[in-house]
Amino acid sequence: MSDSLIAKYNVAGPRYTSYPTVPYWNTAAFTREDWQKRLTTSFANSNYSAGISLYIHLPFCESLCTFCGCNKRITRNHNVEEPYIDAILNEWEMYCEWLPERPRIAELHLGGGTPSFFSPHELRRLMTGIFRWADPVPTTENSGPDFGWEGHPNNTTGEHLQTLYEYGFRRVSFGVQDYDPVVQKAIHRHQPFAHVQRVTQQARAIGYTSISHDLVFGLPFQQQSSIIDTIIQTLSLRPDRIAFYSYAHVPWIKGTGQRGFADNDLPSADKKRALYETGRALLEAGGYTEIGMDHFALPHDSLYKAMHTGQLHRNFMGYTTTQTDILLGLGASAISDVGTAFMQNQKDIGTYQAEVNQNQLPIFKGHLLTDEDALIRRHILNIMCRFQTRWSIMEWTPAEWETISHQLDDFRVDGLLVYDETGLWVRPEGRPFLRNICMVFDRYLTKPSVTAKPLFSSTV
Ligand SMILES: C[S@@+](CC[C@H](N)C(=O)[O-])C[C@H]1O[C@@H](n2cnc3c(N)ncnc32)[C@H](O)[C@@H]1O
Ligand code: SF4
Repeated sequence: MSDSLIAKYNVAGPRYTSYPTVPYWNTAAFTREDWQKRLTTSFANSNYSAGISLYIHLPFCESLCTFCGCNKRITRNHNVEEPYIDAILNEWEMYCEWLPERPRIAELHLGGGTPSFFSPHELRRLMTGIFRWADPVPTTENSGPDFGWEGHPNNTTGEHLQTLYEYGFRRVSFGVQDYDPVVQKAIHRHQPFAHVQRVTQQARAIGYTSISHDLVFGLPFQQQSSIIDTIIQTLSLRPDRIAFYSYAHVPWIKGTGQRGFADNDLPSADKKRALYETGRALLEAGGYTEIGMDHFALPHDSLYKAMHTGQLHRNFMGYTTTQTDILLGLGASAISDVGTAFMQNQKDIGTYQAEVNQNQLPIFKGHLLTDEDALIRRHILNIMCRFQTRWSIMEWTPAEWETISHQLDDFRVDGLLVYDETGLWVRPEGRPFLRNICMVFDRYLTKPSVTAKPLFSSTV
C-alpha cells in the first residue's frame, strides 16, 4: 500500500462498534423512563425465541499493561470480587423483574478487565445467579448458545476453564499482544509463550471449540521482527481465531495508563501499516482469512462461516456471529443496546455498586436513536460487516447525495471502492480504510463535540 494513501487517510476516527458513537450521544434528551420504556417495547417486539445478548464487564486486573485502552481497575486485593458479583446479580435481577417473560440468552460474553482475576468460585456464583432468571437458547442443528470469555494467560487456570465450560462456554480468548521481550517490557506485560501454550492446550483438551488469541500491531518498539516472531509462535498453537488489533493510542482517556512510553517510541503510521501487512501475509499463508476489520479465522470457525453466509454482526463487543435485538450490558461501564436506544452504566465501580445496591439502574448516560440514526447505522454496519451497502437514491436529499458522492469520489479515484445510485462496494484495496469510508456517512462528525479533548484513535 502506498505511503501517500496512508498519509491521506490516517486521521482520527471511530471504530464504529455503535452508531452514533458514544461521544456524540444526545445524553441531555435521555431519561431513565425512556430507557425502561424502549427496553420493554423492544423486548416485546423482539423475536423471543432468538434470545438476547448479555455482556458482563469484569473490570479488575492485577497488573497494569501500559498500552491498555480498556475500562479496568488495577488491584491485588481479591476482596473486591464478592461485592462486585453481588452488584451484577442485583442489576440482572432488576432487569429480569421488568421483562414480561423469562429471557433466553443466545450470546453471553465475559469481558474485562480480566475475568480470570475472579476465582472459579465467584465465576460459578455469577453464572448460577444469571441462570436463575434465564435459560440459554436451545441448541438446534443450525444455532445454539454462543458463550465466550476473556482470559489472561498468566492467571487462567484449568479450573477457570472447566468451570465456565460447565455453564456452556465454548469460546475463550487470551490476550497475547506480542512475544518480543522489548515490547513486553515497554507495555509492562511479562508473558512467556509457555503460559499461552499451556492455557491454549488446556482449553482445547477441555473441549472449547473456538480459542482466540489477541495480538496488537503498532505497539511501542515493535519491529518487523517482533511481528514475524509473534505470528510464527501464534501459528504454532493454531488458535481458531486471531484478533489482530491496531494499537489505539488514546492517552487522554482517564485511567488508560498509556504513559509507560513516549509517543516517539511508537512506530510511525507507515511503519505501523507495514507491521499489519506483514502480519496479514503470514496469517493468510498460515490458512487464516481476514474477517471484517481486525479479525482472522480458520475456515471451521463460526466467525469465518458467518462472514460467508452474510451473518456477521458488529456491536459493542466487536464482531459477533449472533444478531439479537437486545444486548444488555451488566457491570461498571458496560453498554446496552435495545435497537432504538443505547445506555452506558456508571464507569466508576464504587458509584456503580452503590446505585445497584439501592435498587437503582446505574445509568451513566444514554442515547435515543432517531430515524436518521437508524438509517445511517444500517449502512455503517453493512460496510463494516459485509463491505458493501445498498440504498435507494430517495434515501438522500439532493444536497446530501452531492456531499456523499463528492466524498466517495475521492475513495473511488484512489481505487478503494465503487459506488452508484444503488449502493457502494468496498474493493479489497479499500478494506484497511473501512473506518474512513464509514465516516462519509457519519452525520455527527461535523457537529461540535461535547468535549475539547481528542475523541478517537487514528484510523490507520
Ligand atoms: C480485556 S483485554 C483481554 C483479557 C485480559 N485482560 C488480557 O489482557 O489478557 C482485551 C484486549 O484488548 C486489546 N487492547 C487493549 N488495549 C488496546 C489498545 N489500546 N489498542 C488495541 N487493542 C487493545 C488487547 O489485545 C487485549 O488483549
Ligand atoms: S490488557 Fe488486559 S490485563 Fe492488561 S490492563 Fe488491559 S485489561 Fe488488564
